[in-house]
Amino acid sequence: QKIITIANQKGGVGKTTTAMNLAAALVKKGKSTLLLDFDPQANLSKFLGYEEDDAPTISQLMEGAANMRPFDTVSAIRLHSEGMHYIPADIGLANADIYLVMTMCREQILRRILCTPVLAGFEYILIDCNPSLGLLLTNALVASTDVIIPVQAQMFSLNGMNALTKVIEMVRSTINPGLSINGILPTMVDKTNMSRAVVEALQVDYNEYLYKTTISRRVEAANATALSKSSVSIQGSQIGSEYLQLANEVIERGC
Ligand SMILES: Nc1ncnc2c1ncn2[C@@H]1O[C@H](COP(=O)(O)OP(=O)(O)OP(=O)(O)O)[C@@H](O)[C@H]1O
Ligand SMILES: [Mg+2]
Repeated sequence: QKIITIANQKGGVGKTTTAMNLAAALVKKGKSTLLLDFDPQANLSKFLGYEEDDAPTISQLMEGAANMRPFDTVSAIRLHSEGMHYIPADIGLANADIYLVMTMCREQILRRILCTPVLAGFEYILIDCNPSLGLLLTNALVASTDVIIPVQAQMFSLNGMNALTKVIEMVRSTINPGLSINGILPTMVDKTNMSRAVVEALQVDYNEYLYKTTISRRVEAANATALSKSSVSIQGSQIGSEYLQLANEVIERGC
């Protein structure tokens, strides 16, 4: 089983878009996949078409687990029409940063939730993180086997990479020695010189991690959001075929 955190503390770099489309692509390749929305903004949940109901979200699971109360992971799992399962988030997750500070083993709460036996049946669990280096991210990293870092092919987008890799290294050297960077994914790549320069800089600094796949900048990425469908499910979508290619690379790097 691979549990993959999709992380970058920079906002708007394509984390949620990558989570949605990579999950759809993995499902298309026959892999059972669970998406976890781990961002209080709940963009991924909206993307998936989630509408509030009485079943628990990740916010209630986290609060339950942090307070040593029972939590019902099974009822929190929903199914999207494209075949990926998901656990939604809501704004209540924003409180986690506050109560986790006063919780014992505060970095290991999500790991306890993901240890629920029913989740062992998923070949892939993808965790969509919020843009921060806070306690939600460390919880995700502690619970994961892998990290994917989407990097927007834009000016200044490499600033902050050091801080992020430092957090990953810290988690690896303390609580979770099995954690590894699965890959770095250039997103929103276009024909500008800046875009090319960023991809070249990534090749210099992070060549061993860089995927061969890059994701183009295309309006269809944003259009798919409104339809609650992945680009992967849309016939002839360039972004969709790029994410299918990424899924191949992720599967290859699996063992
Ligand atoms: N390849 C792409 N081409 C064009 N637009 C894109 C692409 N990928 C994502 N976008 C758009 O860019 C915006 C930010 O993308 P997304 O929400 O995936 O980023 P994020 O890293 O999850 O943001 P946040 O840090 O706020 O959670 C969205 O409007 C999305 O539709
Ligand atoms: Mg997001």
